[in-house]
Amino acid sequence: MSRTTKKLTAALVGTGRIGWMLEHDPLRGGTCTHAGAMTATGRVSLVAGADLDEKRLRAFGEAYEVDSLYPDHRALLDKHRVDILSVAAPAEAHCAIVTEAAASGRVRGIYCEKPVCHTLGEADRMIEACDKAGVALLIGHERRFGAHFMRARELVHDGIIGEVRTVIGQALSGDPGSVLRSMSGGGPLMHDGTHLTDLLGYFLGSADWVIGMTRRAHGPARVEHTASGMVGFPSGAVAFIEGGGRRKYFAFELELQGSEGVIGVGNSPPGLWLAESSRRFSGFNELAKAKFPEYTPNNGFVAAFEALIEEIETGMPSLSTGRDGREALQIILALYESAAKGGRRVRLH
Ligand SMILES: NC(=O)c1ccc[n+]([C@@H]2O[C@H](COP(=O)([O-])OP(=O)(O)OC[C@H]3O[C@@H](n4cnc5c(N)ncnc54)[C@H](O)[C@@H]3O)[C@@H](O)[C@H]2O)c1
Repeated sequence: MSRTTKKLTAALVGTGRIGWMLEHDPLRGGTCTHAGAMTATGRVSLVAGADLDEKRLRAFGEAYEVDSLYPDHRALLDKHRVDILSVAAPAEAHCAIVTEAAASGRVRGIYCEKPVCHTLGEADRMIEACDKAGVALLIGHERRFGAHFMRARELVHDGIIGEVRTVIGQALSGDPGSVLRSMSGGGPLMHDGTHLTDLLGYFLGSADWVIGMTRRAHGPARVEHTASGMVGFPSGAVAFIEGGGRRKYFAFELELQGSEGVIGVGNSPPGLWLAESSRRFSGFNELAKAKFPEYTPNNGFVAAFEALIEEIETGMPSLSTGRDGREALQIILALYESAAKGGRRVRLH
């Protein structure tokens, strides 16, 4: 069998919403989970699953015709050697699952959901364990693999909007309720906003410093309902970001403002505006809507699993490594730290 047709074996740890259950949301209308995306690649055969919750585990097993079901990753890896371990358990469990799986010598690649974990120390241990064992580690910030995000990144790198000066980024959502910080590591900035802080790195590279403010309607021991802040980059570019915001809607958008134009990219269709001579004021330039270049829409989840397969087969690092995931987390933690220090600037390096 040739390399391109051979099926890889995979196991899913965490058989909850993003593991497979959201696949049955009729409004999503497409592949949006680990099990769904792995199946959609046509390259992966799901052979086992693990979850602490037996009912969910059994339901997953029935839906994907998987008989080998286990209460946790340890029991699973005792019995199975797999090409891909897909980790869709909550972030607090990521470090133990990833480090133990890498050290077991029984997996070749790991797809680990975002956020990478809750602390930089855990992220370092995950990266080190995978490096040491030669295991590919991809963090599930799947927007990185979306065709319109990739096209927007090409435009930025090709200088179509000049030098990026300012980014406005928003991951807006409802009130998270009175969840303890100690339980969940953070609020909306940690859980949805991680995609936002991750994309800052995707477009602009490593950040230099962060200034932040959090608001906690449910008290200081509870997660923030809104986190906002500034993120500075070596180029002088500054991003203004907001996570949460107690909205009655979800919105995820970035506006990349360059010296010669603007790109809008996010959950809405992408847009491009370029500077041109004003038709209203002599001697001025204004922004005019331009055509966002053609791209073939794809599914970021499927493309992310394809990238992991490619990394397993060729050793070529994916667009979403453990180190990328760590940088996204570092911005979030620095924003929380800055907020705790009354808005003092926190340097990242
Ligand atoms: N990429 C995305 O767009 C996206 C969307 C939703 C969730 N997520 C991420 O996916 C992860 C899971 O979120 P979810 O919404 O599916 O949660 P969920 O609670 O629906 O599912 C998590 C499952 O993991 C199981 N679990 C918990 N600890 C475990 C362990 N140690 N071993 C095995 N199973 C364990 C739970 O019983 C549960 O069934 C989180 O990190 C979350 O941030 C990502």
